[in-house]
Amino acid sequence: TPSDLETLRLADDAEGHARAAAILRDGGLVALPTETVYGLGGDARNDMAVARIFEAKGRPRFNPLIVHVDSIDRAQAYVHWSDQADRLAQAFWPGPLTLVLPLRDDAGLSPLVTADLPTLAIRLPAHPVAQRLLSEFAGPVAAPSANPSGRISPTTADHVLAGLGGRIAAVLDGGACDVGLESTILGLGRSPTLLRPGGLPTGPIEAALGMALVHHSTGDPLVAPGQMASHYAPGASVRLNARAAEPGELFLGFGPMDCDLNLSASGDLTEAAANLFGHLHALDARAPDGIAVAPVPDTGLGLAINDRLRRAAAPR
Ligand code: TXA
Ligand code: MG
Repeated sequence: TPSDLETLRLADDAEGHARAAAILRDGGLVALPTETVYGLGGDARNDMAVARIFEAKGRPRFNPLIVHVDSIDRAQAYVHWSDQADRLAQAFWPGPLTLVLPLRDDAGLSPLVTADLPTLAIRLPAHPVAQRLLSEFAGPVAAPSANPSGRISPTTADHVLAGLGGRIAAVLDGGACDVGLESTILGLGRSPTLLRPGGLPTGPIEAALGMALVHHSTGDPLVAPGQMASHYAPGASVRLNARAAEPGELFLGFGPMDCDLNLSASGDLTEAAANLFGHLHALDARAPDGIAVAPVPDTGLGLAINDRLRRAAAPR
């Protein structure tokens, strides 16, 4: 097992980036900050590196990875580009949007990345630390969220070390992630389809495309294969739409109310998204019997917040 590595915490400086790029070139794994969550990065062309990602996370091999690039040009080397892809990339890249497009025959990526699907999920992250490392490495980086499979996603380097310390070569410390929720994933087949709600709300996407997105329903085979019912699970059980805590529970609030931690006391969904995973990590660390969560409105970013909360609360 790879659980005896001494995981380095690298600083966001010239030496840290050089070290991180060298580890990627050698087929090692580096967790890196993006504006959404920390990703567990490896060279997407290197079978060994990609195999190590699955192993370090305990991730099922059928669940494909997102490839991260530093430019639209580089993206076009891996996927068949389209007018819709171009419109969305011009409007929202760099940013929290992943596009699923047909994989090119000459992409040269490890087949493990796509789990043998004919499509590839690709994104251009906005975080300056991610962009600097991607440019310094000058290649495609496969990066799932840097958490053990099924657990809460990491929004700080400390979360990464708590979950994957000893199993990866390094984490590049870029502070806390701004958005706090993973990217929105869109399938660009015949009709643009929302495969995972995320950090970019659907309203602006539909406005840019000039059409409504198809929303998948549970059980739809179009869904991103990694959308397991139980995911983002803290150790404690999670109870949704709660008005108050039961004995033994901690209460995660939203809006003005009495609670142990509040996603946003003012009821701001952007703030709530940024706090969601950090607050779940913090409440879980207090080892309660359960975590009760106040209702969050199902509009805008609330769609993605409620998606993550439902999976955190799902039977394991
Ligand atoms: O914000 C994010 O997207 C973060 C950061 C690190 O970029 N990454 C992330 O990766 O959330 P991960 O592996 O935790 O989630 C990727 C999701 C999975 O549900 C996977 O099934 C789906 O993307 N996916 C990957 N390739 C796909 C494909 N070709 N078609 C459909 N879904 C795909
Ligand atoms: Mg994930």
